[in-house]
Amino acid sequence: MKSLNSFEPFIKQRPLPRHIGIIMDGNGRWAELRGLPRLEGHREGANRVREVTRCARRLGLEAVTLYAFSMQNWMRPWDEIEGLMALLSEYLLKERHEILDNQIKLNVIGELDRLPDEVREPLLELCEASASNKEMVLTLAVSYGSREELVFAARRLAQRVARGEMRPEEIDAKALEGELFTFGLPEVDMLVRTSGELRISNFLLWQSAYAELVFSSTLWPDFREPQFLDCLAEYQRRERRFGYTSAQLRSPST
Ligand code: IPE
Ligand code: IPE
Ligand code: MG
Repeated sequence: MKSLNSFEPFIKQRPLPRHIGIIMDGNGRWAELRGLPRLEGHREGANRVREVTRCARRLGLEAVTLYAFSMQNWMRPWDEIEGLMALLSEYLLKERHEILDNQIKLNVIGELDRLPDEVREPLLELCEASASNKEMVLTLAVSYGSREELVFAARRLAQRVARGEMRPEEIDAKALEGELFTFGLPEVDMLVRTSGELRISNFLLWQSAYAELVFSSTLWPDFREPQFLDCLAEYQRRERRFGYTSAQLRSPST
């Protein structure tokens, strides 16, 4: 394992992503490998949320968005869903001080109406209590699906046109972005997925249009600071071209 003390200052010297999205995957497999119920993997995974958030905050990142529960995850066995919801409310209780003391603003994206009251209420309460914090925005994606979010945004724009508030020609990228749950956050610079799966699974599709994709084979419950720093180092090795050529990036006048 790399020494944190020698590695971290090196990462800090180079451009960091403003916004990181993380698909925290592999909890179930982590537990199954140990002959444990899947929920134990989710429980251990919750500890990594704390660790990675702390590291992100220490590095001075602006925004981190964590995929905690997808729209499609509602199709899982009911006892797993119940267990995940219980862990979520436990997390909110346990992390309250950490979030408030560290000037973190908690934010949530997703279809919250589907959440049980025991999750939705403390979630919205902590979002409100931390709303004026300025150091980092921590967004939890719960009951979230990117396609659903885009459909919702399209519907809102259509309603505005139907009410005569805007003309169809006025619908542009900015207008659409204004209707997304992530409005106000910088676009995603780095998208991490753990557990070796190479897919996006309906997470921040629009917002990650130009994100650097970083896939880690580590299962989420084993994803600790060194693995997170490795992902950042990988990001820093990439050249983000945004359509330009390498030569153009080196000397902008070409
Ligand atoms: C990610 O771990 C957590 C959630 C989707 C809620 P999984 O539960 O998907 O773990 P695997 O992919 O089955 O190992
Ligand atoms: C994506 O993981 C959702 C979260 C991490 C919350 P899944 O494990 O649900 O994704 P698929 O179904 O394998 O693509
Ligand atoms: Mg999975």
